[in-house]
Amino acid sequence: MFNVEKVREDFPVLKKGVIYLDSAASSLTPKIVLDKMFEYYLEYRSNIERGLYEFSQRASEEYENTRKTVANFLGAKSPDEIVFTKNTTEAINIVAHSLSFKKGEKIVTTLLEHHSNLLPWIRCKERYGVKVELVKPNIQGLFNLTDFEKAIDDNTKIVALTHVSNVLGVITPVKEVAEIAHEHGALILVDGAQSTPHMKIDVKSLGCDFFAFSGHKMCGPTGSGGLYIREELMKTLDPLYVGGGTVELVEPETFKLKDDPSKFEAGTPPIAEVIGLKAAIEYLTSIGVENIEEHEKILSKKIYEGLVETPRVEVYGPEPKFKLGVTSFNVSGFSPNDVALVLDSTARIAVRSGMHCAHPLVRHILGKPQGTVRVSTYLYNKVEEVEKFLSVIREISRSAGG
Ligand code: ALA
Repeated sequence: MFNVEKVREDFPVLKKGVIYLDSAASSLTPKIVLDKMFEYYLEYRSNIERGLYEFSQRASEEYENTRKTVANFLGAKSPDEIVFTKNTTEAINIVAHSLSFKKGEKIVTTLLEHHSNLLPWIRCKERYGVKVELVKPNIQGLFNLTDFEKAIDDNTKIVALTHVSNVLGVITPVKEVAEIAHEHGALILVDGAQSTPHMKIDVKSLGCDFFAFSGHKMCGPTGSGGLYIREELMKTLDPLYVGGGTVELVEPETFKLKDDPSKFEAGTPPIAEVIGLKAAIEYLTSIGVENIEEHEKILSKKIYEGLVETPRVEVYGPEPKFKLGVTSFNVSGFSPNDVALVLDSTARIAVRSGMHCAHPLVRHILGKPQGTVRVSTYLYNKVEEVEKFLSVIREISRSAGG
């Protein structure tokens, strides 16, 4: 049985009395993850894959064990499909600059994207002479599949799509878009930053070729994250960085890269963070991702209904059944930053306000040049916290009403 009070005991920072409703930006970290990182620093601190001595062997083993855990968690076929990166942004940039584009090829992405899944592709346009076509969602963030059918053609090299919007929480039809992409011989990259922490992921059944995620949004350490690359593609990609740890053979003027994930992990990686990520995934698994999803559905519904019922509050995005964990809104007469500051100063409620690294969506689809207030939940949030949040919003709304 999911017990939120018990879950909260695992997060020491909650004792500070904060109501943390900004997990879409970064989640809190349970002590078990910190303990695992400390264990590395206190008991076997060394580099990986480089030493024959016991500490280094243990560090390498723990690091590689995370790869197995991530592969399992994402439904990958093998750990050889998992590359560690410091976050989703790095993972997407690796793909964008490891594919060999030919002039005139096309990249299809959308106006729902976080900048991390847009800027790398715009840069490809500037650098490699490819075209970028942007599929537009409606004002609620929902797509019409025929727009993907029109945009994706035989010249399309890759389709890049978020799984869950970081502004609206809306879940996108990844599986259907993957089918359209594959019918045209295109690849599909999925930005899983906002989905992986909150719902069961199965990269095989989604049909994606690349899947990027961040550890710091799913109870893991900052600086941990990863990229799933479908096995068959691993050999064909030319990594963005090269250096120590990536090679099979080096001659004074030539080198041969390895064919496994380590070819994307040049230099000493964030070892403690990768080891901590395994503990985070084990923690989430022990609670049950499905239980977390159910718990968040209750909170999201309460937030959505509470906001919709409040006068002078405008809520963006679809009703809860189409989304996960994130709700954006504004209170008329107040800037998003003012609302966030009042929430913080009156009740220690942490939310994000502004453009949420998604200017095209917030400005051009929602038409909100000042941005929105974004409230986002996770497994440690309680119904009482949501009620407190709604009561402060009602007070702000009353003051706006004069
Ligand atoms: N990507 C994070 C967010 O949406 C930082 O807030």
